[in-house]
Amino acid sequence: MNGADNLQQEQAPAKRGELIAVCSAKGGIGRTVLAVNLAVALSKNNIQIALLDGDFQFGDVSLAMDLQPTFTIKDVAESMDAMDKHTAASYLIRHSSGVKVMAAPERPEQADLLAAPALGTVCDLLLAQHDYVLVDTEVGLKESTLLFVEKADQIFILTTLEMAAIKNTRLMLETLEALGLRHKVQLVVNRATMDSVIKATDVPDIVGIEHPYYVPNDFAIVAQSLNIGVPFVQNHGKTDIAKSIFKMAEQLISRREISLFKPKQPSFLNSLFHRTKGSTT
Ligand SMILES: Nc1ncnc2c1ncn2[C@@H]1O[C@H](COP(=O)(O)OP(=O)(O)OP(=O)(O)O)[C@@H](O)[C@H]1O
Ligand SMILES: [Mg+2]
Repeated sequence: MNGADNLQQEQAPAKRGELIAVCSAKGGIGRTVLAVNLAVALSKNNIQIALLDGDFQFGDVSLAMDLQPTFTIKDVAESMDAMDKHTAASYLIRHSSGVKVMAAPERPEQADLLAAPALGTVCDLLLAQHDYVLVDTEVGLKESTLLFVEKADQIFILTTLEMAAIKNTRLMLETLEALGLRHKVQLVVNRATMDSVIKATDVPDIVGIEHPYYVPNDFAIVAQSLNIGVPFVQNHGKTDIAKSIFKMAEQLISRREISLFKPKQPSFLNSLFHRTKGSTT
């Protein structure tokens, strides 16, 4: 190992959390609604959650959570020279739920200030301090979203039952397959109870991804939530739509606990035993 590798190892913080990229092939499909409510639902489990508004041009996470950001990604981009985990943490805005938000820039022309390598560093710094880092990505697979999906532990792909959404979801999945990232995909059928010729339960077969999460259609609750800036899991926790998000949070946490406790390497005693056995034969 050379000096540069050493330096890189020292600078790269130890990873603690999981990165979840919330994506869709079509706009207006519910990425922000899901990212915000899932972040708040996860935070109810006494764990540290960061939510990065990765829709750098027209991000509306702050609006959906009624936050007035004192700092945004623009400030992060301007301090990359002196960036470490403490500096990154100081740019997060705390929501009443405990979720910490890295807000999108105020103006669309500031969208390109934080590009690929620096953005990766910021993700690493957030992952070192949080159990989950959720990213509400831009629609499609543009440069920053490509970085997020590559870094992600799970890629949530949202679709609805509309024909165009499903067609574009299939195309997006083909691209992720070509990039070798399809195994990370978790399908989410949003507005699953809406009137449509396509049944929600047919979507997995049509797009070729099994075991999706289903989020019901509830325009009144979602529209009100976005208008007043209060995630519905906070004030309408008993509705079916909120329950579907809580279930998602629960499953994410239990799956993670299982993978954290699964022994990855043989225990010391085991390896000693095998070595001893090996040496006597
Ligand atoms: N489960 C749902 N039930 C009813 N309406 C929903 C649901 N999810 C989202 N919506 C509606 O869809 C609209 C778009 O949602 P949202 O802003 O979360 O989508 P988006 O994918 O983030 O959009 P954009 O591409 O603009 O970022 C919202 O106005 C909301 O009212
Ligand atoms: Mg959005």
